[in-house]
Amino acid sequence: MQIDFSKLEPLERYRWLASTITPRPIAWVSSLSKEGASNLAPFSFFQVINDDPATLLVNINHREDGSYKDTLINVLESGELVIHLVDFEHAEQMNASSAQLAHGVSEFEQCGIASVSSTQVKPPRVAGAAVAFECRLAQSMPYPPQAPNCHLLFAEVLVAHIDERVLDEKGRADPQRLDLVGRLGGMSYTRTRDVFTMVRPT
Ligand SMILES: Cc1cc2nc3c(=O)[nH]c(=O)nc-3n(C[C@H](O)[C@H](O)[C@H](O)COP(=O)(O)O)c2cc1C
Repeated sequence: MQIDFSKLEPLERYRWLASTITPRPIAWVSSLSKEGASNLAPFSFFQVINDDPATLLVNINHREDGSYKDTLINVLESGELVIHLVDFEHAEQMNASSAQLAHGVSEFEQCGIASVSSTQVKPPRVAGAAVAFECRLAQSMPYPPQAPNCHLLFAEVLVAHIDERVLDEKGRADPQRLDLVGRLGGMSYTRTRDVFTMVRPT
């Protein structure tokens, strides 16, 4: 089977990409509006793209009417965000926080998600998240340039919070204890506990 992407409707392109490029990590992003309302939402078009400086990339689509999602509005205005990783224990809350609420209504409050203050940025963190990266917006790029339908956010990590409960005896992150979820196609998710190792060739 061969699929000519130029002949597909956008939704079909999305479905083929989202159901094959799997599992995708989920950035659970908190941000703060200029009026001071906290916001929390998940994004799975997400990756680490550099380690010097430590940089994460999040894609935020524009809404169908061209308006910006609350996360995008807040991050463009404030230049700050916190990116959490999502473990199985928080999967339901992550999903609940994807609801489209009115601007200024906090998913933390609406979904009963406890927060704590961050140390270097203003948006609060998810209290129970085992991994959280406080970030500053290094660059934002509307994409594609000729007719943008999303923004790519380049987020530089300022400080990472790693809960000691997910560390192994050597003090490294243990995938079994992390128990992160990955996004598959449609409504499906996976857990990252099925681990095998391979030695790299010299
Ligand atoms: C698992 C998951 C992954 C998602 N990934 C993305 C994504 O990569 N890009 C995007 O624009 N929206 C994505 N969404 C949808 C947003 O979370 C949703 O539009 C949300 O309402 C945005 O919230 P906000 O307006 O508070 O920023 C995803 C939703 C879920 C549940």
